[in-house]
Amino acid sequence: MSTHRKKLIEVSLPLEAINQEGPSEKRGSKLGHPSTLHRYWARRPLASCRACIFASLVDEPSSCPDEFPTEGAQSAERNRLHGTVRRLIRWKNSNDESLLAEARYEIARAVARDSGEAAPTNPDEVLRYLGEHCPAIYDAFCGGSIPLEAQRLGLRARASDLNPLPVLLNKAMIELPPQFHNQMAT
Ligand SMILES: C[S@@+](CC[C@H](N)C(=O)[O-])C[C@H]1O[C@@H](n2cnc3c(N)ncnc32)[C@H](O)[C@@H]1O
Repeated sequence: MSTHRKKLIEVSLPLEAINQEGPSEKRGSKLGHPSTLHRYWARRPLASCRACIFASLVDEPSSCPDEFPTEGAQSAERNRLHGTVRRLIRWKNSNDESLLAEARYEIARAVARDSGEAAPTNPDEVLRYLGEHCPAIYDAFCGGSIPLEAQRLGLRARASDLNPLPVLLNKAMIELPPQFHNQMAT
């Protein structure tokens, strides 16, 4: 039986760091950024979307009293998770595979905790585990950032929107590229 646990986002986030990183995405043209594909007005900053997805999935330490029984232990673990958020939201770290693997493991750990299992530690197994056990992230109003960031964190992403433009952008960013991953042009 799974126990309801609060998620980190329900208790605290390093908002100052997130708020600083969001506007910095707009400065200059950044290779690999969705704005280089199209400047869709409704898309939200990648940094805040990445932080929100991560913090919505990892457990708030005070909800895991078996592992973090004292306020001191909970605060230390919360600070550690905030540290991960702070590094995760930096644009220059967007494709840092070891950091992404760390973040994916934290998410897998929360998913596994719910079913009383231990999360795998091997990065490939973590990805497989998330694909099989973590619920898909669904953005019903998909400006383009949430599904992209969900995919970056190794999660299944689903997206829809009233406007065909963000739908097309999402197809171009998250649906088609994986189909051609690791294939050489002939
Ligand atoms: C602020 S944007 C969402 C940003 C987005 N979540 C992201 O990842 O960047 C709001 C989106 O909601 C869409 N929208 C507004 N009303 C809608 C409706 N009734 N059904 C579906 N999409 C809708 C708009 O077309 C717009 O793309």
